[in-house]
Amino acid sequence: MSTLVVVGVQWGDEGKGKVVDLLAREADVIVRFQGGNNAGHTLVVGGQKTIVRLIPSGVLHDGKVCVIGNGVVVNPEVLVEEIDALQQRGRLSDPESLKISEIAHLITPYHKAIDLARERLRGEGKIGTTGRGIGPTYEDKMARVGIRFVDLLDEDVFAQKLERNLEEKNIYLGTLLQEQPLAYQDIFDHYRRLRDRLAPYVTNTSRYIHDALGAGQKVLFEGAQGTMLDVDHGTYPFVTSSNTVAGAVCTGAGIAPQQLRNVIGISKAYTTRVGSGPFPTEEHGADGEKLRRDGGEFGTVTGRPRRCGWFDAVVVRTAARLSGLNAMALTKIDVLSGLSTLRVCTGYRYRGQEYDEVPAGAHILEQVTPIYEELPGWTEPLTAMRSLDALPRNARQYVERLEELVNVPVKMISVGAGREETILIRPTFF
Ligand code: IMP
Repeated sequence: MSTLVVVGVQWGDEGKGKVVDLLAREADVIVRFQGGNNAGHTLVVGGQKTIVRLIPSGVLHDGKVCVIGNGVVVNPEVLVEEIDALQQRGRLSDPESLKISEIAHLITPYHKAIDLARERLRGEGKIGTTGRGIGPTYEDKMARVGIRFVDLLDEDVFAQKLERNLEEKNIYLGTLLQEQPLAYQDIFDHYRRLRDRLAPYVTNTSRYIHDALGAGQKVLFEGAQGTMLDVDHGTYPFVTSSNTVAGAVCTGAGIAPQQLRNVIGISKAYTTRVGSGPFPTEEHGADGEKLRRDGGEFGTVTGRPRRCGWFDAVVVRTAARLSGLNAMALTKIDVLSGLSTLRVCTGYRYRGQEYDEVPAGAHILEQVTPIYEELPGWTEPLTAMRSLDALPRNARQYVERLEELVNVPVKMISVGAGREETILIRPTFF
């Protein structure tokens, strides 16, 4: 049984795409199990940038099968665009190389309209969602009114569900959200065309993964977002609407817990967050600006500038426990070059109490005082370095200290965006 789960352990954007892309070389099957096109990975291969939102990052390798599991919410229009773009680059020419779960839920135009309108009305109190309709689609799934691929494949079932839902959503949109109603026929016709494009890929992916594992294949599960955006364990309510911890693989891909083995957590060497919500180690001064500039910290999906700050061991320690990490990949350490002193948050203080893990209430997290430790920085650029020994002593010391604080070994360090700009401390993960 050879499985590997990759999860983000901060607020998303940890550089999972690159790590998954690297690990995918060893895998046969790569699976997305939660989230939707709120995720976005920029992959740089051979100097060429490719952004994937729904299709697993492993798509750039030949001979792999990419799976969109049942836990993912799928905007079929975005998926078709992505397939087209990848096919133009000579990828996904074999229809067998992509599989979409027949029970994955569909994002529709009303989900997107509701997401955007609600955020507009929330004003200052907005969550800062990606506006892709993710939350409203998961809501409908839980409310048991969602539309799944299996429904889309049957025209009558789809028509019936769409009509019933739209009737209700249009009342909600028109009265409470002050939006224009959406036209049934437009959505129906559009989705029928999209169905024709996607139908060949739709299948029972849970069974497919089970059989692949049975045949001795290696399966890589690619998480989206990060632990602090988990709808249960994250900084609620400033979270996404799915579970992002490793445990979500079981429900989101339809496999049993005994089939999971290794879990690798991806963390930046500092911290970023997009959207609203508490961020104890946020750095508003010149150092934060440097991280944003040198780290190119602007959202892949929305282009929004990311909030930047110091490494928060409280966040990563909490995430390590929740997902049972056996290894970590530390990304973007090259961005820290040039900072004379590095701060690392080892705990929080709030009303006389110390916290070694993230407290539950967003109102508490908003007010905690981070306990910082300072480490000496380095000036050398790290991007050309390919081994731990080549790193400046202070950079090695920084990595070692993070390992100690989080109690998980760092097995991979990323020193640049390119696939080859990586230090593999232990090359094999399966
Ligand atoms: P939603 O997932 O669009 O509903 O957005 C909810 C929150 O999750 C917002 O703060 C988003 O900025 C954040 N979020 C969603 N997807 C990502 C991601 O891939 N990276 C970073 N933040 C994300």
